[in-house]
Amino acid sequence: MYLSGSVPKITTHVLQEMKLKGEKIAMLTAYDYSMAKILDESGIDVILVGDSASNVMAGHKTTLPITLNEMIYHASSVMRAVTRSLVVVDMPFGTYQGNSKEALQSAIRIMKESGANAVKIEGGEEIKESVDRILSAGIPILAHLGLTPQSINKFGTYGVRAKDEREADKLRQDAKILEDAGCFGIVLEKIPSKLAAEVTQMVRIPTIGIGAGNQVDGQVLVLHDMLGINQSFSPRFLRRYHNLYNEIHDSVVHYIGDVKSKNFPSDSEQY
Ligand code: KIV
Repeated sequence: MYLSGSVPKITTHVLQEMKLKGEKIAMLTAYDYSMAKILDESGIDVILVGDSASNVMAGHKTTLPITLNEMIYHASSVMRAVTRSLVVVDMPFGTYQGNSKEALQSAIRIMKESGANAVKIEGGEEIKESVDRILSAGIPILAHLGLTPQSINKFGTYGVRAKDEREADKLRQDAKILEDAGCFGIVLEKIPSKLAAEVTQMVRIPTIGIGAGNQVDGQVLVLHDMLGINQSFSPRFLRRYHNLYNEIHDSVVHYIGDVKSKNFPSDSEQY
């Protein structure tokens, strides 16, 4: 188990203090009770109930199809397991863009029905009205800039964002807007490490990178990718800590063999 100091429960204020002390923030995704329990008991600082559940749990090609009810289901399962980590829930596509009153209602449903600690939303200036309204209800927001997968149909690819100066400049401005609005942190996804370092220096709130280099305040990965459950995804930024696909595959093949050969159950495995 890895625990930062003697903090009993991670809050947004603890993350702020970690940035000030230069202590890195470790964040991973989880979508269910069993995995969330392992992550929490291992000492992870932040659990993200990401809308990547749409890909890794439901098998969709993008994050767009997942619904608010499905996100609340995943978040409630995670919350039943967690005692220490801060739990942040992605607001799914279509629940906060365009109508700030609907955005607030969606955020309230997530907080009330799952018991989570905060929400995450993608975008900058264009979602500012929703950000303001959600924050006005006392709901903490983790912002998300750079490659924002809910905009895949606009981007066309999952390539590195903000490589040109115009997009980099918009990202800098958005980061400032989101900080001034009162967001407690910003996820920076797949942008040049130099730009991520610059934004991290510029804002007082923590930045959490994914494919954004090592000059940010923390890192996040999708659990299924870092455990090697999902083998079809291998971008440069991903470090695989395990090859769980092979481990599970081999165990299942072994089990099938035992059943077919009548080796399982043995005398000692029955009543
Ligand atoms: O949904 C997700 O898992 C995310 C992370 C990749 C940051 O947004």
